[in-house]
Amino acid sequence: MGRYERRYEDHLQARAREGLRRELTGIEAKDARQIGLGGRSFVNLASNDYLALRFSPALIERAGEWTRRYGVGSGASRLVTGNLDLFARVEAKVATLKGKPAALLMASGFQANGTVLQALFDRAVLGAEPLVFADRLNHASMHFGCAASGVGQIRYRHGDAGHLQELLIQFQDDRRPKFVLTESVFSMDGDVAPLVEIARLARDHEATLIVDDAHATGILGEGGRGLSEGADIVVGTFSKALGSFGAYVACSETVRDYLVNRCAGLIYSTALPPPMLGAIDAALDLVPAMDAERAHVARLAMRFRAGAATAGLDTGASATQIVPLIAGGNVAALALSERLREAGFFATAIRPPTVPPGTARVRLAFSAAHTDDDIEAVLAVLGANVSLPRVSPARAAS
Ligand SMILES: Cc1ncc(COP(=O)(O)O)c(C=O)c1O
Repeated sequence: MGRYERRYEDHLQARAREGLRRELTGIEAKDARQIGLGGRSFVNLASNDYLALRFSPALIERAGEWTRRYGVGSGASRLVTGNLDLFARVEAKVATLKGKPAALLMASGFQANGTVLQALFDRAVLGAEPLVFADRLNHASMHFGCAASGVGQIRYRHGDAGHLQELLIQFQDDRRPKFVLTESVFSMDGDVAPLVEIARLARDHEATLIVDDAHATGILGEGGRGLSEGADIVVGTFSKALGSFGAYVACSETVRDYLVNRCAGLIYSTALPPPMLGAIDAALDLVPAMDAERAHVARLAMRFRAGAATAGLDTGASATQIVPLIAGGNVAALALSERLREAGFFATAIRPPTVPPGTARVRLAFSAAHTDDDIEAVLAVLGANVSLPRVSPARAAS
């Protein structure tokens, strides 16, 4: 290992020269709205805790209760140590929320995508190497899962159902198993995939549609059920709008059973621990009734986008609680993040390879803990017109 240290160091220095070096910024937790940094408070615009559930007394209470009853750890993987009764309870709630016959809890969204896709794309089981049609901007964990399975992806232009259709037509006489893979809400753009068209195309071409609903679950869709209606298999996380940690796959009973037998992330990894199960369980109880919070977040994001437009800022195709400020260059994105930091806002510069080269940005994520005043203040820092009329909650919710 020692002999390669120099190479790793050279690599880090090369990244720094391109404005691409990452660093872990030490912060102090405060509440759902603010974080502390160097003795100062910042409005947190970087968290995916969209419903501000991270500090919810109900989640903390049930996490504590289940910890006291079941312990802090789960001891081993579910197949080895036995499947705690808590899993069936939580999985039933997930299946109901997602409108699917079954659900399976996983340790994290990254692990779910990385290992569920690997299991589903097994050519030995499918009888042939599958054709996997994937949005070009899918999350790294989905690419990871495809790479782990050894399949080559057929990538369509981001959010472009027409391009997907062209590609599906090119392969229409190919009898190999077909899958379509997309996020519902894209994590770095905050735009929404054309899921109705994609689902129709998948059906017409007998492809299995897999949707990563990470950034919609809890915060979008009726009762917070997300946007994955036409999907055959849904993957999502509890680490974003549901405020804690862990992930799920919502699917048929057969796919669930297959994953229990074949998904390495479930078989070879320790099960989610009771405190997390408690937090997830409590969040699932709260989410369906959080329409007011969902409308509030939608309204804040809409107001921010309208204000940003007056300053000529590029918010891409954002239509959700995630709003990028696209700066282009890496250094420009870092400078914008720094400008916001100086004014008391914590928002991170997102650079390649997380986003395509030339599209570095500062990603803002709005939450139920943010206020209209927060939006006005951040718009003022950006030089935008803050005296825009406030959008009525009723309109924002529609
Ligand atoms: C679309 C998408 N899928 C999966 C993940 C991974 O989820 P988790 O943070 O639970 O590992 C993320 C989070 O970064 C994501 O944005």
